[in-house]
Amino acid sequence: MTLHQNEKKKLVAQSALQYIQDETIIGVGTGSTVNFFIEELKKSNLRLKGAVSSSEESTKRLKEINIDIYEANEVSKLDLYIDGADEINHNFEMIKGGGAALTREKIIAQISDKFICIADESKYVKTLGKFPLPIEVIPMARSQVGREIVKIGGDPVYRQNCITDNGNIILDVHNLMINEPKNLEEQLNNIPGIVTVGLFAKRKADILLLGTSDCVKNIT
Ligand code: 5RP
Repeated sequence: MTLHQNEKKKLVAQSALQYIQDETIIGVGTGSTVNFFIEELKKSNLRLKGAVSSSEESTKRLKEINIDIYEANEVSKLDLYIDGADEINHNFEMIKGGGAALTREKIIAQISDKFICIADESKYVKTLGKFPLPIEVIPMARSQVGREIVKIGGDPVYRQNCITDNGNIILDVHNLMINEPKNLEEQLNNIPGIVTVGLFAKRKADILLLGTSDCVKNIT
């Protein structure tokens, strides 16, 4: 049986429900896989206390299914964060931000005890970097950050028609072979004007639910 990519996303979205306890507040990410997860939440009998959402888009979808939204500042920590990825390597380090929600995603990941990444198998890679690395940048720093990125061998491309939920822009960095994700994340974090780097290596995923052609693999 060959499943379409969306069917694999739906399967991992369903599978994530088993980790959720009634009456808890969970972190919810952003993207098409998470949208399937929100649909599965709606169909389930789970009674969530609420969710901390990583984007206006996810907030809208969660409100539509009557889930209460909490601000990150209202909770000291979360047990669980469920989100997708653009790429995830065998060490559970990720590239995220294809949906431009990387900053709020990183904040929620940081306050969560367990990060469950839900992804179809096309996202599972040996080396990160084929997917252009999204970087959220303060608008006035766009050119300066671009020059710094060229110095380290990347090709930054300004994402057209994209303003993040925080009022910033995105540079998608092409042609980086990311062999040492943590080091690169730290190096980029030091460039003034960069708000968030879409590399999730310092705070990586804890569990990967990977949708393959015939099953969901639970990788820990
Ligand atoms: C959004 C993200 C998403 O998790 C990532 O882009 C994956 O999206 P999708 O589930 O649509 O493949 O980081 O900022």
